Amino acid sequence: MSERWTPESWRSKPVLQVPEYPDAKALADVEAQLATFPPLVFAGEARNLKKALGRVATGEAFLLQGGDCAESFAEHGANNIRDFFRVLLQMAVVLTYAGAVPVVKVGRIAGQFAKPRSSPTETVNGVELPSYRGDIVNDIAFTREARVPDPQRQLMAYRQSAATLNLLRAFATGGYANLGSVHQWMLGFLKASPQSRRYKELADRISDALNFMRACGLDLESHPELRATDFYTSHEALLLGYEQAMTRVDSTTGDWYATSGHMIWIGDRTRQLDHGHVEYFRGIKNPIGLKCGPSLKPDELLKLIDVLNPDNEPGRLTLIGRFGSDKVGEHLPNMIRAVKREGRVVVWSCDPMHGNTITSTSGYKTRPFDRILSEVKSFFAIHAAEGTHAGGVHLEMTGKDVTECLGGARAITDEDLNDRYHTVCDPRLNAEQSIDMAFLVAELLKQERAGKAQPIPAAAGL
Ligand code: PEP
Ligand code: CO
Repeated sequence: MSERWTPESWRSKPVLQVPEYPDAKALADVEAQLATFPPLVFAGEARNLKKALGRVATGEAFLLQGGDCAESFAEHGANNIRDFFRVLLQMAVVLTYAGAVPVVKVGRIAGQFAKPRSSPTETVNGVELPSYRGDIVNDIAFTREARVPDPQRQLMAYRQSAATLNLLRAFATGGYANLGSVHQWMLGFLKASPQSRRYKELADRISDALNFMRACGLDLESHPELRATDFYTSHEALLLGYEQAMTRVDSTTGDWYATSGHMIWIGDRTRQLDHGHVEYFRGIKNPIGLKCGPSLKPDELLKLIDVLNPDNEPGRLTLIGRFGSDKVGEHLPNMIRAVKREGRVVVWSCDPMHGNTITSTSGYKTRPFDRILSEVKSFFAIHAAEGTHAGGVHLEMTGKDVTECLGGARAITDEDLNDRYHTVCDPRLNAEQSIDMAFLVAELLKQERAGKAQPIPAAAGL
């Protein structure tokens, strides 16, 4: 891979998961137009995130990454964005306070539109049509016309990302994220739940601490850390034509950056060493993620690390394991040992969603909450046993009260799934399940800090 890199050098490699656009000229026109549009994020912001992730890699911080499996054009409302942002902030507060660790907040948002599919076609009632590949490519409606890839959708995705990012920036810095507002972030429907009681107790303690500091004479308003928050965006950079168009030279360093989001990641289906996605990612300087599923062998992982992070820069590479609660014990320890042996610095993150997807009896694609929790617990236990830092979690979640994942404090059943199953792709944790998850992770982080290795659950298979 020592050949010269350019933003389009991926085009000379094999590329998987490519939509079949019927009109190559229309696609090229859209890509040329996108290339003239303003960047969505700045190189300096991506560098700040890389620095923050560098602290995660060295065990001084924790990464909280989450959001929709797929954003949709139909659901692009301010309330949706606010509800998601609020839950993520609540989770971050739980982790920061109860887990006593700085939290790096990264949303799967403002660009998370393109979806890899396990099959290029989908059959319903004997009718076979091209698969839905995310709103940036085609429409979810099950008709032949809707499923034709339309390049104009890339322009819509760009504009939606810009508007979403604009609101997120306002929320993060315009007062909404002020730590003094922890009580106002309480969600209406959480009031009667055990999570709301736990969250309120925690918010009370934070308010007490802030009042104490005020009484000591500290001017809290003069501290930007308390008034605003750093929030970053991320997505799977699957649609390389779009990504290429958004790739720009940073004028201050002369380096290339993906400006479609602060952090981008390579999916589990497109991480082949000699293919186009790895080629594209090696040349951009953003912090990047690599999804690691059960089929990734440790020696192949090391080769990928050589290509993706040749300078061993802390914060550059986040390995996002997505093995499944029954497989994490078989695969993760070997990966950790190989990476440690080679002296590679990475962020270890756990995606407990994608290896735990099942079809319910009623036919819904779902994920049992206890399996999701079990993978997270195993992740922490394995890192404790290996002496490495359980660096973060990567979740599919929403601020809404949906019924997509089974179980949780409200014990969502198979019959409940039909009530509010709204996702356009994979099942997400709802707001309560997300807060539950944050309390659990905070507990595990506390144990990690206390140096108490917990017994590895039998499900980890060790
Ligand atoms: C995803 O994160 O939505 C996804 C498709 O994950 P993976 O590549 O790990 O299957
Ligand atoms: Co998904």
